[in-house]
Parts: sequence; C-alpha cells; structure tokens
Amino acid sequence: KDNLLTLADGNKMPQEGFGLYKVDGQETMNQAVSKAYEIGYRLFDTAQLYGNEQEVGNAFKQLAIPRDNIFVTTKVAEGNQGYEKAIESVKESLHKLQMDYVDLLLVHWPIERSFFDTWRAFEEMKKAGLTRSIGVSNYQMIHLQYLATQASEMPVVDQIELHPLLTQKPLLQFNRQHQIVTQAWSPLGRGAVLNESILKDIAVAHDKSTAQVILRWHLQNGVSFIPKSVHEERIAQNADIYDFELSAQEMAQIDSLNAYHRTGREPELVYEYNKQY
Ligand code: A2P
Repeated sequence: KDNLLTLADGNKMPQEGFGLYKVDGQETMNQAVSKAYEIGYRLFDTAQLYGNEQEVGNAFKQLAIPRDNIFVTTKVAEGNQGYEKAIESVKESLHKLQMDYVDLLLVHWPIERSFFDTWRAFEEMKKAGLTRSIGVSNYQMIHLQYLATQASEMPVVDQIELHPLLTQKPLLQFNRQHQIVTQAWSPLGRGAVLNESILKDIAVAHDKSTAQVILRWHLQNGVSFIPKSVHEERIAQNADIYDFELSAQEMAQIDSLNAYHRTGREPELVYEYNKQY
C-alpha cells in the first residue's frame, strides 16, 4: 500500500489510483471520493471528456482535503487540442477543479492534427506551473517515436487500456526503456475478464476476488493502475491487494489470457510519420 513511483521528471506518483470515469452526479461523486480517500487512495483520475471536473472539485472542497495530500490527473480532450485551445481548456479545467495546478496532465488521445502544437502547450503549461507533470494517453509506440522527433521533454506517463485481455507487452517494454511509466485504464477490462476460469482458480487459491488478482497482477508488473467503482465494498476490496503475492507461474497464466481485446477504441495512427517508413 502507498506505493509511490518516481517519474522521469523527479515527481512521485501513487502506483494505485482511483478512476473517476462514469462517476457521475454530485452525491455519487462525494460518496466515492470520500470512501476512496478514507481507504487510502491518493491519486484521482478525471478528464475533460468525463464531464465531471466540477463535481470532482466540489467533492474535494466539501471534504476539506488538503491539496498537497492528493495527486490529481486530468486530460485534454481531442476537441481542445492545439496550442491556444489546450491552454485555455486547462485553465477552464482548473477553474472547475478549484485548484491552482494538477499533478499530471495528459493528452487524452493521439490525433494527427495539432500533434506537436498540443505538446508544446503542455511543455509551456508545465513551466508555468499549471501542472507538475506532463504525459499522454492511448499513445502507441509509433506516436511516442513521432513525438520524440520534436519534443523538448518526453511524456513521463502513458496511460493506456491494459488488462489481462490486452497485455500490450511490447509497449510496456518500450515505455520502460524510455523511462515512461505505463498506467492502466480499465485495469479490470470493464468487467469483461472477471469470470475467466484461470483467474477464478487463482483467486480461490489466495482467498481473494478475481478483481483483486488482476490488480495484483498490475502491481507486480510495475505499472500504475486506476480501478473505478461506485460501490464502497469494491472500492475497499480494490485497495486490499497488498497482503498476497502471485507466483511467476500465476503471472504467466494471466499473461496468457491476452486476446488483443480492446474495450475502447483503437488509437488513430499518425500517417505523416508512417509515410517515412
Ligand atoms: P461499479 O462501479 O459498479 O463497481 P474498469 O476499471 O476496468 O473500467 O472496470 C470498472 C468496472 O468494473 C466498473 O463497471 C465497476 O463497476 C466494476 N468493478 C470495479 N471493481 C470491481 C470489483 N472489485 N469487482 C467487480 N466489479 C468491479
């Protein structure tokens, strides 16, 4: 518990966080954030696209949680990419969140248009203190390689869809080699993987739930992960994964579930860069 990962820029980030996608409505938000904070979650992950930044901000304010105690991530939506637009949109996000800065700002999806302008805005926003760290989301190797051709600073986090049905080993290795922390969204595969018999067997052997086995697999893989639940019992359960260990054989069994199955969309490719190869 309380595992911290050190990012390439020197900042520290909790390995496990709380996902706020589809946590909607002020009352639900307050309950979820309050329970998660009480349990010990310190990383909270939202996005412009989730449409709940105002509720997130209200929840932290109402709970009187000191800003320094939490690590807050938000993401710039596709429609807000571009130099000026990205900066304007982040100021708006901070206004809704009622915060002076976020801890981590991510480009939500790779798109060809404004690819470098958006990143330049991110580098500037970090310098200006609107965010402590900058990163990307849903970037595959090709996007990171393309970004490296012009970036002054590389992303310190790449948040991707990652779970036992989509293990993305080559990208994980690439990120590790480039000091980019991989962060898993939909760490439970949106529930699609919870009934796999391999996972059930492993869960029984450790007296844990299949969700806990999957999160433990993420933990031992060294990636960051942000499970979401609006149920108090599950919020607690998802943080109760620090008292057991999966064997190398169990880790390999879980890896073998890979089916290249995306619950979300396929990231758009960068054709301009592809043409060179
Ligand atoms: P709910 O919020 O109703 O608990 P992912 O994080 O992979 O996107 O998956 C989240 C989904 O899995 C949500 O629908 C959430 O639903 C559900 N979920 C979260 N934690 C658990 C758990 N421990 N056991 C079963 N389902 C869970």
